[in-house]
Amino acid sequence: MSTESIAIKTSGPLQGTVHLVGAKNAVLVIMASLILTKGKNKLTNVPFSEDVFHMIRLLESLGAVIEQDKEQRTLFIDTTKILSAQIGADIMKKMRASILVMGPLLARFGTADIAMPGGCVLGTRPINFHLNAFSKMGATYNQHDDSLTAEAKELRAVDHVLEYPSVGATENIMMASVLMQGKTRIVNAAIEPEVLDLIQALNKMGAQITVEPPASIVIKGVSLLKPIEHHILHDRLEAGTLLLAAAITGGEINLPDAPVHSMEVFLAKLEEMGHEITCGEDGQGVHLKATKNPQAISFKTMPYPGFPTDLQAPMMAALCLASGKSVIHETVFENRLLHVRELQKMGAQRAIDGQPATIVGVDELYGASVIATDIRAGAALVIAGLVAQGDTSMTGVHHLKRGYDDLIPKLASLGGNIKLVDE
Ligand code: EPZ
Repeated sequence: MSTESIAIKTSGPLQGTVHLVGAKNAVLVIMASLILTKGKNKLTNVPFSEDVFHMIRLLESLGAVIEQDKEQRTLFIDTTKILSAQIGADIMKKMRASILVMGPLLARFGTADIAMPGGCVLGTRPINFHLNAFSKMGATYNQHDDSLTAEAKELRAVDHVLEYPSVGATENIMMASVLMQGKTRIVNAAIEPEVLDLIQALNKMGAQITVEPPASIVIKGVSLLKPIEHHILHDRLEAGTLLLAAAITGGEINLPDAPVHSMEVFLAKLEEMGHEITCGEDGQGVHLKATKNPQAISFKTMPYPGFPTDLQAPMMAALCLASGKSVIHETVFENRLLHVRELQKMGAQRAIDGQPATIVGVDELYGASVIATDIRAGAALVIAGLVAQGDTSMTGVHHLKRGYDDLIPKLASLGGNIKLVDE
């Protein structure tokens, strides 16, 4: 049985220009939403990360016919022959995003015979908001061990008030509500850029969805949705990870596709550290010139437009080498600090245990054997390895591959001394 690891050696300042792929957290939910159509759909700017392959297998298990053109970053997804609403636990377990087919299946078939989702272990990650909403719409569900079945003779349009702006619950409610009579309102909805990209795709299918300030989503039901062609928005999380890799190595990087209008809080924090940030006029494209003397900062992760929880770990890695004490509050997930222990193996200094995480900057990190515990923890360890003295070997590569398409070759193209090792 081969074991994969990533071998990283001390690298000089990263330099150059990189193009981004589409956003994983947009393409996964948009692929799920295509269950609402009957016909041939085309998605472009698709990231071919492992989670996308999991979603392809999930849709094929329902009867979809899918062609992949990796060269052109394109997927052709024909949903005409989706005749089943049943998905095995082995497929559901691969990732959290598999739960996002529950809304579309209930809307199309009035039933969903699935299982509890898997995915990054960032806390208990319940799905109570999803299930409460489906019940309010008239569905009944039965959860037994890992299996989850739901029935809805007829879903009805109601108002939903989310106690927390959950991304997944907002997306599932929207997809379950588009194909019905009446108006649905989601109050305190998630308005992440990936959620807005889903709304764009659904409206292209013929849905009638609007976003009302401060954060409500209104869905006027329609009777039919048609297949679409859709270009997935560029990945702000990949952009953030690459910017932090350049920052931590004292480099200079250009990301012409970066959706900077959806990265403002994150970019402001990089500037607060002392890095020079220049953004494209039209809200697209960013250039970073790293400071040689990064300063400590503090931040709290929040729902969009706050600081994204998915960049907390990579930002923490960069703060390990910043002068002073950084205080990091992870407020979105209750157990998303597992990477701290691995960074400490590389010489990172943590002031006190528990939340908030307090990182005291050190002069150097050291290479070590470390384990990625989730997608973004993997990214943090990779960029720490680029500046660590000596060799770093990272296992748990499957996590990184789930969330990033080609991150290693991209870092290598910028001068990073990094490669995938398959023993
Ligand atoms: C999405 O997860 C993203 N995943 C996550 O990205 C991201 O971290 C998260 O949103 C927050 O931005 C995808 O889009 C596929 P939530 P999701 O529902 O939908 C609690 C990555 O690295 N909650 O907004 O699962 C939950 O436990 C991944 O790319 C409930 O209590 O996130 C968490 O504490 C990781 N009950 C909080 O809300 C529910 O029914 C936010 O979760 C649902 C959520």
